[in-house]
Amino acid sequence: MQLDTTSTKYYQLTASEFNWEVSDEKTIKAWGFNNSIPGPVLRAKKGETLVIKVKNHLNEPTVVHWHGIRLPSSMDGTDDTQKPIVPGEEFEYKFVVPDAGTFWYHSHQNETEQMEKGMYGALIVEDETDPVTDTERIFMIDDMRLTADNEFKKGNFFARWFERHDGREGDTLLINGKENSIVNIHAGQTERWRFINTSSAKYFRLYLSGKPFKIIATDGGLLEKTQQVTEALITPGERIDIIAGPFTQGETFAIESLPYNRMTSIKPKHQQYATVKVGAAKSSVAFIPENLRKIEALAPQDAPVTRKVKFSVVASWKHGIDFLVNNDVHTADKPVNIGELQIWEVSNTSLMDHPFHSHGFFFQVIEENGKAPAYKAWKDTYNLKPRSKVKIAWIPDNRPGRWMYHCHILEHHEAGMMAHFEVVDGSNY
Ligand code: C2O
Ligand code: CU
Ligand code: CU
Repeated sequence: MQLDTTSTKYYQLTASEFNWEVSDEKTIKAWGFNNSIPGPVLRAKKGETLVIKVKNHLNEPTVVHWHGIRLPSSMDGTDDTQKPIVPGEEFEYKFVVPDAGTFWYHSHQNETEQMEKGMYGALIVEDETDPVTDTERIFMIDDMRLTADNEFKKGNFFARWFERHDGREGDTLLINGKENSIVNIHAGQTERWRFINTSSAKYFRLYLSGKPFKIIATDGGLLEKTQQVTEALITPGERIDIIAGPFTQGETFAIESLPYNRMTSIKPKHQQYATVKVGAAKSSVAFIPENLRKIEALAPQDAPVTRKVKFSVVASWKHGIDFLVNNDVHTADKPVNIGELQIWEVSNTSLMDHPFHSHGFFFQVIEENGKAPAYKAWKDTYNLKPRSKVKIAWIPDNRPGRWMYHCHILEHHEAGMMAHFEVVDGSNY
């Protein structure tokens, strides 16, 4: 078979340490891809092949995970599916992007340090069925916790204990690697804004100074219908695409996060990430249909549960506190058979929130605490509220191998709140 180069996109990502200006006053020793935070935007059309060569120029091993892409297990980029890329080495990832949407890539090794220092970037998959907008922008949300000398430090025993328990939040608020940025837009235009929450633990409750906006897509692409709102919660790992505008010339407003109480010792705050300034008007070609696409329901709300998964937090002698899946740290869950509909009841028995993330497969939430969700969506990351139960449906398609699910608060993931499992061909048994 001949390689169709028109449908293959090649990229190179080099991981290294470099100086990065988050603002005029703050320069940090960042870790990232191609000397930039975020790394380069990787773009492809639905169905194309991406070939990405990752070189490691750091002093420690790394791997790169493609969050949300339905790729083969061997390309998932975790230490469960490949040998980490050691310093000086490289690895070539190659996979087809089967779904249009807002995805991202990030280090999946020593994440609480590598991701905190900037090892992430956006991966955008386009399709002809995307609504037509005048401009598209990507906003990668992050917060860094820096010392007075603009360094990353884990702090003393107590600081570390709290970081492990609460997850790391910081006061250096970044959009696309910059503090206090100004977003200049034209009046009269309708834009698509793709938000990606890359932070370790921050729950970003998107707010545009009270201006209404429309949600059109989430993790796994377009919703069925646009949803008009004035705020939207984006937990670590999640994505939301919105339609912003049209605005009037002279308007100024903030991209901010409303306080969200995720039940830790960190005080919820109202924080401003960027300022939007509306300039001279420009004509618009935008067309956003009310109905975006059809999403077939995988299962009815009352479908019988095939597996229970429990997220919990318990006191332990060794660490003070443990973050568990099915009562164990870094646990193994039972295999699932290719083609067999999965109905999982994912419960959170703890008193704090955890964003549940599954690698390589989208799911549909079919029930939350006894109620059907407000609308259908394809998700790979979904918030588990304190003491809650969420029923999800998903189908392991023909991609056998090792996979995982975990809490996307990086410190909880590191502490053990994760499970691996295998997708197997059940007809062999
Ligand atoms: Cu973005 Cu293992 O995840
Ligand atoms: Cu992932
Ligand atoms: Cu968690």
